Amino acid sequence: MSTSTPVASVEAQGARIPLLGLGTWELRGRACTRVVEQALRLGYRHVDTAEIYENEREVGEGLRASGIKRGEVFITTKIWPTHYAPHELARAARDCLVRLRLSEVDLLLLHWPNPQIPLSETLGALCKVKRDGLARNIGVSNFTVALIEQAVRAASEPLVCNQIECHPFLDQSKVIAACRRHHMAVVAYSPIARGKARDDELLQRIGAAHKKTAAQVCLRFLVQQDIVVIPRTSKVERLSENAATFDFGLSETEMAQIAALARPGGRIIDWAFAGRPQWD
Ligand SMILES: NC(=O)c1ccc[n+]([C@@H]2O[C@H](COP(=O)([O-])OP(=O)(O)OC[C@H]3O[C@@H](n4cnc5c(N)ncnc54)[C@H](OP(=O)(O)O)[C@@H]3O)[C@@H](O)[C@H]2O)c1
Repeated sequence: MSTSTPVASVEAQGARIPLLGLGTWELRGRACTRVVEQALRLGYRHVDTAEIYENEREVGEGLRASGIKRGEVFITTKIWPTHYAPHELARAARDCLVRLRLSEVDLLLLHWPNPQIPLSETLGALCKVKRDGLARNIGVSNFTVALIEQAVRAASEPLVCNQIECHPFLDQSKVIAACRRHHMAVVAYSPIARGKARDDELLQRIGAAHKKTAAQVCLRFLVQQDIVVIPRTSKVERLSENAATFDFGLSETEMAQIAALARPGGRIIDWAFAGRPQWD
């Protein structure tokens, strides 16, 4: 696999997922449309949205405004856990497509686990949505090792990824190993730790040695492990910065130093955010 351009990709069970995507959480309205359009013009070929972000309409508009052919862009969206009852899930998936003004998405994810609804029922509905042609690929997000095992057993279609919080300040090695075991891609959300990477001294120091910023080193650390990154920015000038992570490499020593930044409590996204009781 080549990692020399922003369109480098990983392959997972037949899905080809661009290693760099644009995150869009908290991007709204015209600003969202503009950033999506600019990102695609700059060479991004993957955009991440979700029904809960309330910006699917703007993501679709940005895609059309960019002039890039639909077939060249990988669009992911996610279903919110309140829509996991089987008939609800199919309806929610159709609603996403209406807002995006697309006939199918490239990847449809379960946004968070929902222990109130049997996983097998939700996965049955998700697999049917895929078979009905609404999503080319399906996957999960925020699934623990135990839930990945359950999901893989219950799904009749391949689950191509688990989208998880992943950056140097959090040890996700167990979940990543489970994904690899099941040939699922790992998609890193909050890949620059919601901006925290910028202020880290080690990332800055390594960056200076490569004439790169701390954020670029942080993203490089992930893509060098074939982890897909979906950094979000509202600033057009940062789109190029975040994309320029394929023209340099980190040494084994640098990779190990960065990995050692992980700390217990390094998680940034609070799982209570999704009303998390006990998942496993
Ligand atoms: N599946 C899930 O449950 C889940 C959860 C969270 C996020 N996500 C997805 O993952 C995407 C990315 O995660 P995220 O938005 O939480 O965090 P992130 O991408 O790690 O960080 C975004 C923050 O970093 C800043 N930033 C961006 N580029 C920068 C750079 N080069 N230097 C310094 N600061 C920079 C942005 O500010 P500016 O806007 O000012 O540039 C923003 O405040 C989301 O947008 C969403 O699509 C999914």
